[in-house]
Amino acid sequence: WCCLVFDSAFHTLRTVRPVGQKLVQVGLTGRLVYTIAAAAFGSAFQHGYNTGVVNAPAEITMIWSTIVSVFCVGGMIGGSIVGVVADRLGRKNGLLYNNIFVLLAVLCECSSKWLGSYELIILGRFFIGLNSGLNAGLVPVYLNEVSPSNLKGAVGTVYQFVITLSIMISQLLGLESVLGTESGWPLLFGLTAVPALLQLLMFPICPESPKHVLKSTGNELQAKQVLVWLRGSLDVHEEMEQMKAEYEADKNSSKVTLRELTSNPSLRMPLIISVALMVAQQFSGINAAMYFSTKIFSMADLSEKSAQLATLGVGAMNVAMTFVSLVVIEKAGRKTLLLVGFIGMFVSTLILTVSLVVVNMVFLTYMSVAGMLLFILFFSIGPGSIPWFITSELFSVAARPTASGVAVVVNWTANFIVGIGFLPLASLLDAYVFLIFAFFQAIFTVFIWFKVPETKNRTVEEISAINILTTALSVRSIP
Ligand code: GLC
Repeated sequence: WCCLVFDSAFHTLRTVRPVGQKLVQVGLTGRLVYTIAAAAFGSAFQHGYNTGVVNAPAEITMIWSTIVSVFCVGGMIGGSIVGVVADRLGRKNGLLYNNIFVLLAVLCECSSKWLGSYELIILGRFFIGLNSGLNAGLVPVYLNEVSPSNLKGAVGTVYQFVITLSIMISQLLGLESVLGTESGWPLLFGLTAVPALLQLLMFPICPESPKHVLKSTGNELQAKQVLVWLRGSLDVHEEMEQMKAEYEADKNSSKVTLRELTSNPSLRMPLIISVALMVAQQFSGINAAMYFSTKIFSMADLSEKSAQLATLGVGAMNVAMTFVSLVVIEKAGRKTLLLVGFIGMFVSTLILTVSLVVVNMVFLTYMSVAGMLLFILFFSIGPGSIPWFITSELFSVAARPTASGVAVVVNWTANFIVGIGFLPLASLLDAYVFLIFAFFQAIFTVFIWFKVPETKNRTVEEISAINILTTALSVRSIP
């Protein structure tokens, strides 16, 4: 059995790309850039903007906490229907129809002030969470399937880049001098409709992903036409061949179910990796910084004004370093950036903890700001973006939507846990609360080191072959 598995995996590795032969290098075209922008900006914006928008100075009450966290509940439910939506409606139509939830959310949130009902804000936050959860699965899958193998990491990072940009926009607009006021907040919430409307205008002319076209219709010509449109060239032979190979390999499994994902040994490991990276991303503590950085800075004795300024610095660092990661990812590779990111976060968390525990020196106040900025720097270099797109790289087209859905649900659940758990734990443990995050960062560094394969510049077929080999190698005795 082992010989057969090894043989077929090595055969795949040899035939898909013989040793020494480079993966076909495809450049960016105007149409591809337009497609990426229409898909990502219109969708990822909701995720980031609505994460940051509730950070506008507010007294933390029970109602406010519900308003913050019901967003994650929506995200979990949205994530759980990614597989069905991506397969039934398709990636593109799924994204387009998803904008209905944005419009519903804005309607509820904006009318709540006039109708004097905070319940409507809660409902609105639930709808926008639903929309963001669906986007979190559909966008990375779509971006993966329209981009050439040599650019999948950079294009996949665009999703996280838009999140960071929109978090920063919401932080700026949420300032008291802009819209963070009693009269300003309905507009602050309402602005999230702008990218949805833009997407409804820009996205319809873009094609469905060529892989989904091939998978759902079996029509090679139609899939080829999409590829020709995206690449702006008739020379798509090699990419077509790769796509057909993936299609042939998947042909018999029209749609992979959750049960198959967990019971099939060659799918189980990629699923564990996808899920673990989502947990690692959230339990690194990033959203403790995103939701409560102003509070953390005041723990370090910063004045209210300086704390708000430092929070803007956090937002800007997040955007800048995510952009750097977008530029370097195809050279540095996913695994390296994940390791550098988590090890760096571990060290920065320790710096932050020490500086917060001993707050009686001016020098240490600065050290806490530096610790926080370093923490964000290392998060955005890899742990921020890679978990979002690696699931699409680890699975082929039949399993991709279901696996992405599972990963998204796990991400939002972990996000929810940090969101509701951080403040109570901080009041119990004080600054030592950050050591919990340091613990998870260390554990996941070891996991990544041993278990995560490098997916840079590899086709899905090659990655599957590596999965099969890894699984076979880990089977020690055969009954
Ligand atoms: C990632 C996380 C999200 C977080 C953001 C911060 O997208 O999934 O929860 O708010 O990064 O940049």
